[in-house]
Amino acid sequence: MSESSTRGPQPDRSRVGYHRARRSRVRMVSETSEGRSYVLGHDSDELARLDRQAASIAGATRLLLQAAGVARGMRVLDLGTGLGHVARMLGELVGPQGTVVGLDRSGDALTVARQRCEDAHESHVSFVEGDVTSWRAAEPFDAVVGRLILFHLAEPSDIVRHHLEHLRPGGLFVTIDFDVGGARTEPRVPLALDALQWVEQAFVAAGASPRIGARLASILRQTGLHDINTLGVQAYLQPDNPVAASLLAGVVRSLAPVIVQRGIATAEQVDVQTIEERIARELQRANAVLLPPTVAGAWGRKGQVTI
Ligand SMILES: C[S@@+](CC[C@H](N)C(=O)[O-])C[C@H]1O[C@@H](n2cnc3c(N)ncnc32)[C@H](O)[C@@H]1O
Repeated sequence: MSESSTRGPQPDRSRVGYHRARRSRVRMVSETSEGRSYVLGHDSDELARLDRQAASIAGATRLLLQAAGVARGMRVLDLGTGLGHVARMLGELVGPQGTVVGLDRSGDALTVARQRCEDAHESHVSFVEGDVTSWRAAEPFDAVVGRLILFHLAEPSDIVRHHLEHLRPGGLFVTIDFDVGGARTEPRVPLALDALQWVEQAFVAAGASPRIGARLASILRQTGLHDINTLGVQAYLQPDNPVAASLLAGVVRSLAPVIVQRGIATAEQVDVQTIEERIARELQRANAVLLPPTVAGAWGRKGQVTI
C-alpha cells in the first residue's frame, strides 16, 4: 500500500476502542512477512497494556526525540506506530506546519490511532497500513522514527537500510528500544526478578531481541548513517508506585502462553490472576525500587550523497 492511501477506509465513529479492535481474540503469536513472529498480538488487553506502557515511557521518548533533533516543520515517518503514541508525540514536536505518517500492519491498532487523532483534531498526523519490511513512500521524509519495532524484526539493519531510501539527504533516522539487560529490583525481590527473566526468555524464545537497546548505535553504524549518537534513559519506580507491578505483570500476562508453552515457568508459577498483586506485595514488603528496562535511543544522519 502506498502513502497515497494513508487515510484508508474511515472508521465507524459510533464505538471505536479496544473492544472494536478485539475481533475474535487475536492469536498471541502472529507471523510477520519475514516469517518472524510478533509475539505480543493485538487483543484488547494487549492494546490497553500498550497504552500503559506508552504512558510510562512518554517522558523518555520525548527526551530522546528532542535530543536527536526532531523539530518543527519536519515531515516524519513513524515505523510500527501501533496505537500512534509516538506519531502523536511527533505531531506535537513538528507542529501543524509539519506532517507525520504512522505505518503499521495492524489495521485494528490503526483504527484506534486514526480515531484518536480525529478526536484531537490532529489532521497533520495520518496513518497507513503496510509492512515496514517492504512499504515504500512516494515522497521523502526529513526523519524516520521507530520505537519498539526493531526488537521484533529478524534483520534490523536491513529495515533501517530499506527506510534510508525514504530519507532526504541529511535526513535523520531515530530508533528507540528497550534494553532489558539492566532491569532489576533494588534490593532483590525474587518474584520480580523471576518475572523479568521469564519475560526476557519468552521474547528470545519468540525470536525477539530484548537487549537490542544496547546495540542500536552499532546497528545504525552498519547501515552507513553518519553522526551517530546514543543515550539511555533509566526510570526508578518507587516501592509505593503501583505502575511498577502493573507494567511487569502486564507483560508477563501477555507473554504467559509463550512462557508456559516453552517451559520457561509453569502456569502455577506465573498464575496470571494473582501475578500483579503478588509482585506489588513483594516490592512493598522489601521497600524495593524497580528499574524497568532502559529506554535506549540512537540516531544518525543520512549522508548528503546517496548511501
Ligand atoms: C510493541 S508495538 C510498538 C508500537 C509503537 N511504536 C510504540 O512504541 O508505542 C510494535 C508494533 O509494531 C508493529 N509491527 C510489528 N512488525 C511489523 C511489520 N513487519 N510491519 C509493520 N508493523 C509491524 C506491530 O503491529 C505493533 O503495532
